[in-house]
Amino acid sequence: MKYLIKTFGCQMNQHDSEFIASMLRSLRGEAVSDLDAADIVVVNTCSVRETAENKIIGFIDSLKRRKRSNPDLIIAVVGCMVSKREQIDRLLEKRKHIDIILGTRSLYRLPYFLERREAEKGPFVEFDLDDDIPEGRNHIREESYRAYLTIMYGCDNFCSYCIVPYVRGREKSRSKQDILNEAKALVNDGVKEITLLGQNVNSYGKGLAEASSFADLLYALNEIEGLERIRYMTSHPKDFNSEIIAAIAACKKVCRHFHLPFQAGSDRILKAMNRHYQRDYYLDLMAAIKKDFPDSVLTTDIIVGFPGEEERDFEDTLDILNRVRFDNAYTFLYSRRSGTPAADHQNQVADEIKRERLQRLLQLQSDISLAKNQAMIGKTYTLLGEGRSKNNPQMQSGRTDGNKLVHFSADEDFRGEMVDVIIEEAHSWSLNGRIK
Ligand code: SAH
Ligand code: SF4
Ligand code: F3S
Repeated sequence: MKYLIKTFGCQMNQHDSEFIASMLRSLRGEAVSDLDAADIVVVNTCSVRETAENKIIGFIDSLKRRKRSNPDLIIAVVGCMVSKREQIDRLLEKRKHIDIILGTRSLYRLPYFLERREAEKGPFVEFDLDDDIPEGRNHIREESYRAYLTIMYGCDNFCSYCIVPYVRGREKSRSKQDILNEAKALVNDGVKEITLLGQNVNSYGKGLAEASSFADLLYALNEIEGLERIRYMTSHPKDFNSEIIAAIAACKKVCRHFHLPFQAGSDRILKAMNRHYQRDYYLDLMAAIKKDFPDSVLTTDIIVGFPGEEERDFEDTLDILNRVRFDNAYTFLYSRRSGTPAADHQNQVADEIKRERLQRLLQLQSDISLAKNQAMIGKTYTLLGEGRSKNNPQMQSGRTDGNKLVHFSADEDFRGEMVDVIIEEAHSWSLNGRIK
């Protein structure tokens, strides 16, 4: 059986796809990159914004023709876009070529439905968000030297714009022991960098029988011999407390990269977003981080054009950019997600205004990113090598502790190796250096 997994969306989805690959591999499947060669296509979907959904629906529709020429082709659509009844109904209405639908917490049922598919026609649909994701899952990783590790599923925050709590279900932490066992097994397997995954990693431990916190987890992971770097995503400012800051300060393997989405700069909008913090709290938190970690890298997520956002609210967002001076910001046009409270707001912001604001935001951030990268010139940084650069194959690439991308030339392949480089040239989104 030849399989092709097409993954959209965030790191959680990438990691879920590694699990899907492992299930298919244990059914003696073989990965292919050519759609024409595939016996089964799995589409792992994202519904965070409308643009993502449209692209995915376009892809699913393009499979119709392939199914016509190869009726044995199995098409499975899984993940966030198919974790709500209404969405599934809408999808299936005009797409009889889909065989299997599995929600975010039902992925592990894929082998079962593939077997049933041999005798029955389908479509098979399962999307129970109360389902517990089984322990002991395997993942097929793209890189041998780095890995994702899920520490919690779901989200209980219900930010008023966001679909994730409705498609990933309630927050649930894995036990500390299960996480540590998995981390040790990864390191024994040659992994040097682990990225802890969860929609709100800072609230890790909530509801566990044995009390534990995100800080506890960092202390324990930091002890694992052979592990070089610990990353985590995503943090929520409201839960990023002094206990976590102290743990990071004490744990040398935890990267000095702070990704703290602030989403909007105005108190009024933050309240409407249900974010549970205000701009002064956020600015104080960032000031505390800068004080304790002067060389750290700071990044954020921002939404432009949330319903009711006025020019002065948007200026508050620009103001936070100017005050904090992030190394990078991931910026999004607000997208109306049906079923979320913000989608029903009367005063949606017009598209042209959203776009014009986004342009201003991008321009400001690009200037700041460039200035921050220029300040790195002449200094030495340790990279974890990623091998040949994707965009620039004559060069090698690697990431600093702060997750900045650096290109350098070398005859040797530094994939998975730690290497010191001196920065020589800075751009807004990458750097060039030479081996020290
Ligand atoms: N749990 C993470 C990631 C959520 S999704 C967090 O809280 O940060 C990643 C980003 O997508 C969010 O940070 C937000 O900036 C953006 N996003 C989520 N819903 C959105 C929507 N409806 N429109 C535009 N951007 C959205
Ligand atoms: Fe969405 Fe908010 Fe949860 Fe992040 S914390 S996944 S933005 S609801
Ligand atoms: Fe991730 Fe998209 Fe789902 S951002 S959690 S894949 S809706």
